[in-house]
Amino acid sequence: MKPLGTPLSTAALRVMLLGAGELGKEVLIALQRLGVETIAVDRYDNAPGHQVAHHARTIAMSDPAALRTLIEAERPDLVVPEIEAIATPVLQALESEGVVRVIPTARAARLTMDREGIRRLAAEELGLPTSPYRFCDSLAELQAAIDGANGQPGVGYPCVVKPVMSSSGKGQSKIDSADDIAKAWDYAMAGGRVSHGRVIVEGFIDFDYEITLLTVRAVGADGHVQTHFCAPIGHLQVSGDYVESWQPQPMSPTALQRAQQIAAAVTGNLGGQGLFGVELFVKGDQVWFSEVSPRPHDTGMVTMATQWQSEFELHARAILGLPVDTRLKSPGASAVIYGGVDAKAVVFDGVAEALAVPNADLRLFGKPESFVKRRMGVALVHDADVDTARVQARKVAALVRPRAA
Ligand SMILES: Nc1ncnc2c1ncn2[C@@H]1O[C@H](COP(=O)(O)OP(=O)(O)O)[C@@H](O)[C@H]1O
Ligand SMILES: [Mg+2]
Repeated sequence: MKPLGTPLSTAALRVMLLGAGELGKEVLIALQRLGVETIAVDRYDNAPGHQVAHHARTIAMSDPAALRTLIEAERPDLVVPEIEAIATPVLQALESEGVVRVIPTARAARLTMDREGIRRLAAEELGLPTSPYRFCDSLAELQAAIDGANGQPGVGYPCVVKPVMSSSGKGQSKIDSADDIAKAWDYAMAGGRVSHGRVIVEGFIDFDYEITLLTVRAVGADGHVQTHFCAPIGHLQVSGDYVESWQPQPMSPTALQRAQQIAAAVTGNLGGQGLFGVELFVKGDQVWFSEVSPRPHDTGMVTMATQWQSEFELHARAILGLPVDTRLKSPGASAVIYGGVDAKAVVFDGVAEALAVPNADLRLFGKPESFVKRRMGVALVHDADVDTARVQARKVAALVRPRAA
C-alpha cells in the first residue's frame, strides 16, 4: 500500500467512494482527516458525501460501462463501495486486471449485493444458522415455498418476503396466512431494485432482540489481518427500516460468543480489510445470521457517540492498513430524524432545543431533497446507561423538525 500523502498532488493517496450518502459522508470525513484525496460518487448531484469530498462525480453506478469509464479515468488507489446497487462484475474485472483494489474485496461486494449470494454462502457453504428460506420467481413458486410441495415441507407461517435486490425494508412484508401471499408478492415486485421478480421467503424468527455486530478486519502489529469486534449494537426496525439503535446491547456470554463466531466465519470468508456490519437475531442463547454489509452500517451511526473510534474511522483506518481500537467509550443511543415532508431544500426547526439536551449531538445529512420517510438526520446521545440514552435520543430526534423552506 502506498503511504499516506498530500491531497491534490502527485503524492496523493486517492480513495473513491461508490455511494455518497450519510454513511459515505462520514467515511469521507474520516479519510480527509488522514490527508487522503477523496472522490465521492453518487447517482444524484449534491449527495451528502459530494459536499465534503475533493471531487464529486454523478453517474449511474449500476451501469457497467459508466462505472468502468469513471474508474479508469480516475485511477484511485482504493475503490470503496458504500451501497449495494453497483455493477459489481465490473469491480471484479477491474480488480483481476490489477487496475484497482476494491474494499473489502470485489467478491464480497458481489456476494452481498443481493440476498441470494450471501444467504447461500452463509447457510449452504459455511453452515451458519439462518432462518429457513427459499428463492422464488413467481407467485406460484412462492405459494409452494411457503405451503410445501411434492412432499417437501415449506417455510410455513409466519414468514417474510423480500425482493432479492432491495434494502431498507423496500418491498418487504410479513405473511401471517395464505390470504397475504398475493399481496406480499405484488408489494415485492413494486419495491425491488430491478424488476427481475425474484424474492426470498424466510421463516419468521421470533427473536428476543436483534443486533449489528460491527466486525473489523485490520492489519495487526504482526503484519497479518486480525478480526476485532465492537460491542453489540441493539436496534429497532419499523417496516424493515432502522429507527433507533443503542450500544452496548446486553447479551448472555454464550450468545455473544456465538455471535462473534458467526461474524468471524462470514467476514473471514469475505476477506480483505475493512469494517463489516453483521446482522444477527438472538433468542436466549440462540443466534441466527441474517445478513452482512461489507461496510459501515446505518445502525452503527451510534458509534459516533459511543466509541473512541466510530465505525467510519475504523473503516478508514482498516482499509488504509492502519491499527484500530474498537473499545467502547460510553453507552449511548441513536434515533433517526425523518423528513416528514416531501420538499426540496428543507429547513430545520428546533435544533437549538435539541442540542440543549444533555449529552446530545446531531448529524444533519444535507440531503438536497426531503421525503416523508427519508432519513434526513440522526440524534446521538451518550449517557450512563443505554435505557436513559434511548429515551434522550428519541427526545432529541423529536425536537428537530424539518419543514419546507
Ligand atoms: N426472517 C426474519 N424473521 C424475523 N424478522 C425478520 C426476518 N427477516 C427480516 N426481519 C426484520 O426485518 C428487518 C429488515 O430485514 P433485512 O433482511 O435486514 O433487510 P434489509 O436488507 O432491508 O435491511 C430485520 O432487521 C428484522 O427486524
Ligand atoms: Mg438489514
